[in-house]
Amino acid sequence: MSLPSRPRPVALVTGASAGIGAALARVYAEHGWDLVLTARREAPLRALAAELALTGAASTVLPEDLADPAAPARLQQAISERGLTVGGLINNAGFSRTAGFLNTEPTAHAQMIHVMLTGPVELARLLAPAMVERGFGRILNVASLAGQMPATGGDTLYGPIKSFLIKASQGLHLELRGTGVHVTALCPGYTLTEFHDVNGTREEVSTAYPRWMWQTADHVARVGYAACEANRPKVTPGAMNNLLAGLAKHLPDRMALNMVGGHAKRLRRI
Ligand SMILES: NC(=O)c1ccc[n+]([C@@H]2O[C@H](COP(=O)([O-])OP(=O)(O)OC[C@H]3O[C@@H](n4cnc5c(N)ncnc54)[C@H](OP(=O)(O)O)[C@@H]3O)[C@@H](O)[C@H]2O)c1
Repeated sequence: MSLPSRPRPVALVTGASAGIGAALARVYAEHGWDLVLTARREAPLRALAAELALTGAASTVLPEDLADPAAPARLQQAISERGLTVGGLINNAGFSRTAGFLNTEPTAHAQMIHVMLTGPVELARLLAPAMVERGFGRILNVASLAGQMPATGGDTLYGPIKSFLIKASQGLHLELRGTGVHVTALCPGYTLTEFHDVNGTREEVSTAYPRWMWQTADHVARVGYAACEANRPKVTPGAMNNLLAGLAKHLPDRMALNMVGGHAKRLRRI
């Protein structure tokens, strides 16, 4: 489906200050979208906005901490005060905790859940009705290959949160079919971003997983954009990642758990 000619559609990108979110903002700008950029760090958002302006895309920078349950409503309010109409929602902000379930503070678990689960759900609930009313919208939820793999120990809640996001995206995809609003879960495998610096596993994952298993944020963003335009409910970039997801689906549970049991050991986390 082609984009409406004028005015330029506007996409809200969460976690746009780095990695896959910044790459998605670039790809949407390249395809004629204006942006609302959000994350906690304002400086990289402003730098990205300046870069995108050179391509003709207008960006609005709204720094927010999505770990705050009130953040989605504040974002919606700030967007409507600026007279903007959001036609695209890119739920991308995220991180993992790898210290182990028992070694992680409950508040840190709550932050993960707010940023990657309730935040995306609430933003979709706030923004999707107007998309349906206008007969045009795009919702791209950045989940993970981890959401399709067996449970892992150490980053115990990360996979289940991403599984939730995949299933919720697929449900909303079905619910909104035929309305002009596309909903897609993007499930990247290992991607070169700040993600593994933030969770402190850069050295371990670089040693444990060979270079060919890693994809660039730009590639992941392009695959996600194309899948959402094609209204695919789910996309996993990369043949190897699809093979792993397929294997995980068909292996008996016990075998699959043993297979990924090595993951936590490789990261020497538990
Ligand atoms: N990299 C991978 O291997 C990989 C694989 C599969 C899935 N993913 C998923 O891809 C998404 C993007 O990750 P990435 O790889 O691009 O990681 P990244 O480079 O670390 O970027 C994460 C983004 O999320 C934002 N963020 C984190 N906590 C936030 C909070 N409390 N409030 C608002 N924004 C917050 C960060 O911005 P601030 O720090 O400025 O707030 C940053 O913009 C995540 O959902 C991740 O789970 C990543």
